[in-house]
Amino acid sequence: MQIAIDGPASAGKSTVAKRVAQELGFIYCDTGAMYRAATVLAAENQLDYGDEAGILAKLTQQEISFKPGAPGHEQQVFLGQEDVTFAIRTPEITNNVSQVSALAQIRQALVAQQRQIASGHSIVMDGRDIGTTVLPQAQVKVFLVASAAERARRRYAENLTKGIETPLAQLEDEIVARDYKDSHRKVSPLTKAADAIEIDTTALTIDEVVAKIVDLAQKKQ
Ligand code: CDP
Ligand code: CDP
Repeated sequence: MQIAIDGPASAGKSTVAKRVAQELGFIYCDTGAMYRAATVLAAENQLDYGDEAGILAKLTQQEISFKPGAPGHEQQVFLGQEDVTFAIRTPEITNNVSQVSALAQIRQALVAQQRQIASGHSIVMDGRDIGTTVLPQAQVKVFLVASAAERARRRYAENLTKGIETPLAQLEDEIVARDYKDSHRKVSPLTKAADAIEIDTTALTIDEVVAKIVDLAQKKQ
């Protein structure tokens, strides 16, 4: 079984996807981490974030890979041999990832890798184009949304736990700007698949969202 979870920035996709995978005993793949790793690759090699050929060439030399985290820990993300688990979450990367993810050839390479990860497994995969492009045959498709204000509050709280304090208004502006770029790019923009079920999580707890998706999956099984 394949479960596709898409939606705008900070709607809760990775948190919920990880939990759903744990409850159902499925593997989990955070595709956003792959676009973030490609952005780190550009930064580390002093490439322009729009340099499609340059980033693609480096990507063939330094493959992106994952190691599942111990229970309760984040999965580790590697660029070649380098552990970039933390490097992919900096504000510099967050604010530039949409430029890299708009590059057609980078998407093509990462989508091929994502399909390979999914093949032969029961999987929960989260991103922006999973239900529309990566796994269009997924049996369960969910589109998670929440108000921009609530999503900024969640990111604010999450940042605080890491000792970072960014003004709430700035976080909301950045989230809205990234959603705009992700929804307006030419190649597989962020959009709800026709057969996806939309869940507005603004007033829901993580447990409530997880329970809804697990229920959808069990009904399909
Ligand atoms: O967790 P957060 O909402 O901050 O974003 P993410 O899921 O880590 O994704 C980071 C960025 O990667 C997004 O803003 C998109 O530009 C891109 N992305 C994409 O284009 N397609 C995907 N399937 C997943 C992420
Ligand atoms: O992957 P995405 O960017 O969509 O969101 P996330 O990184 O999974 O979640 C952003 C923050 O919202 C995390 O700190 C979650 O704990 C929190 N949160 C949530 O995911 N769902 C709720 N219903 C409430 C809070």
